[in-house]
Amino acid sequence: MALLLRACLCLFAVLVFVDGSETKLIVREDEDAILPCSLGAADISSRVFDWKKDGRVEVFIYDDGRYYGKGLSGQHEQFRGRVFHFPEQLKGGNASIVIRKSKPADSGTYACIFPHEQPERRAHVELIVGASPRPIITANETSDGMLLLCEVNSASPEPVLEWRNSSGNILPAEKPQVSEKNGSYSVVLQTTVTKSGRYRCVSTQQKIHHQVYTETHVNVHEGAAPKPVIAVKETKDGLLLQCEVYSASPKPEVVFRDSSGNILAAEPQVTERGGSYDVILETTVTKSGDYQCVATQKEINHQRSTETRVNVPSGAAPKPAIAVKETKDGLLLQCEVYGASPKPEVVFQDSSGNILAAEPQVTERGGSYDVILETTVTKSGDYQCVATQKEINHQISTEIHVNVPSGDSDSTPWIVVVGVLVVLLAVAAVIIIKYKKTWKKDKEELQQRKKHEEELQQELNEQKKKHEEDLRQVRLLLEEGKQQKEETA
Ligand SMILES: *[C@@H]1O[C@H](CO)[C@@H](O)[C@H](O)[C@H]1NC(C)=O
Ligand SMILES: *[C@@H]1O[C@H](CO)[C@@H](O)[C@H](O)[C@H]1NC(C)=O
Ligand SMILES: *[C@@H]1O[C@H](CO)[C@@H](O)[C@H](O)[C@H]1NC(C)=O
Ligand SMILES: *[C@@H]1O[C@H](CO)[C@@H](O)[C@H](O)[C@H]1NC(C)=O
Repeated sequence: MALLLRACLCLFAVLVFVDGSETKLIVREDEDAILPCSLGAADISSRVFDWKKDGRVEVFIYDDGRYYGKGLSGQHEQFRGRVFHFPEQLKGGNASIVIRKSKPADSGTYACIFPHEQPERRAHVELIVGASPRPIITANETSDGMLLLCEVNSASPEPVLEWRNSSGNILPAEKPQVSEKNGSYSVVLQTTVTKSGRYRCVSTQQKIHHQVYTETHVNVHEGAAPKPVIAVKETKDGLLLQCEVYSASPKPEVVFRDSSGNILAAEPQVTERGGSYDVILETTVTKSGDYQCVATQKEINHQRSTETRVNVPSGAAPKPAIAVKETKDGLLLQCEVYGASPKPEVVFQDSSGNILAAEPQVTERGGSYDVILETTVTKSGDYQCVATQKEINHQISTEIHVNVPSGDSDSTPWIVVVGVLVVLLAVAAVIIIKYKKTWKKDKEELQQRKKHEEELQQELNEQKKKHEEDLRQVRLLLEEGKQQKEETA
């Protein structure tokens, strides 16, 4: 872009206003400033006069032939070696001083004081050190047209910048950026223009009635496609990217590219109004990454693009969860993968990597999948549940070690045997103790019965004996009777 800069005319006038005891003095930067002061026609070579800036900064003092740099000290460093009086003019009452190579920082109000006069005499001078550099223009093509930047560096006093078109109308602009350094001001003002033409940046310093400008010619390509605008919407299939290019002429070619530069399939919707074209392009992406919408107008050698970074919400399968349940056939392993999209392939593998027979139960809700897979294992070992989503190059697995209890009775744990034995022994002991008691009782009873029997037997024998005795008596009696009868007979 060719910038046609026109040099400005920088006119600097040194204006001195004498207004009673107040004088306004304007000098250009690096020039000498003579600050006037006089005590009429009196000879002041043996008197005292003092120059102060802004009421406090020591600029210069003269005391009967002595002054700063010659017998007196206390001068502010800003003025050291730069301020002189006019010795030959002292006799004529001239207390003027000169500041060599004035700087913006020297701007301010100076007081010339005769402290020992009755009454004290004072005069004031307002010094303005003007610096009015020419504005510098830079132009930058943007999506909206041409960005024009106007810059003024180290100006004093503070300038006001304006952008104007060739008709002299002030253009709307951003808020100026102003910075100050040692009394010098730097100002930047930017505007964006959408039409070709001549534009001027004007710098005005009202205080010193000074104005300076720089002009440039701008070529804005009307119809050049502006920067595409990308909008992103979430859908169940991924993210829908929508690229919009408005008011382009000639008709732009608009494409989406992924970060490798591949053009994505998409059908543009083109509408035309008054020779300029609006293009809307939509595509759905399922992978996170950087995508670019590029608008190209070959005829005018113009290309603009906008890049956006998208994060496709991850449907990557989470780590499978494995649950183990004991069944009469072995151990039932259950693997669960929830909320995966695209649909994951879920398998069980043994430690050798063999896939175990299992039928997955798949449920779908809102484009994401839950998979449950069950298999029964009869051998102890490591088993893995693996979920794979080829489309998004994602695989995740969970491993588990299982111990299958073997089915043989031999393997009945010895502790169970011991347990059973202990119980049996305990029962036996209880029985024995109980019976032992009963036996004892029975034995005693038996003995008692035996004794009783013996007693009865004895009694019986005695009775038998008695009975026999009785019987013998009876027989004897009978025999006696018989004999008596025979005798009688
Ligand atoms: C004082 O002397 C200076 C230097 O010669 C001169 O420029 C100035 O006009 C004089 N001022 C007065 C008030 O006489
Ligand atoms: C102009 O654009 C270039 C690249 O976009 C950038 O580096 C430069 O800072 C811009 N200049 C201005 C003045 O904005
Ligand atoms: C300058 O700006 C004014 C106000 O925006 C506009 O009316 C005028 O046409 C412009 N002049 C040129 C030459 O563009
Ligand atoms: C300001 O001016 C003083 C004295 O003139 C100088 O020493 C200093 O470096 C200046 N500061 C800046 C930031 O330019």
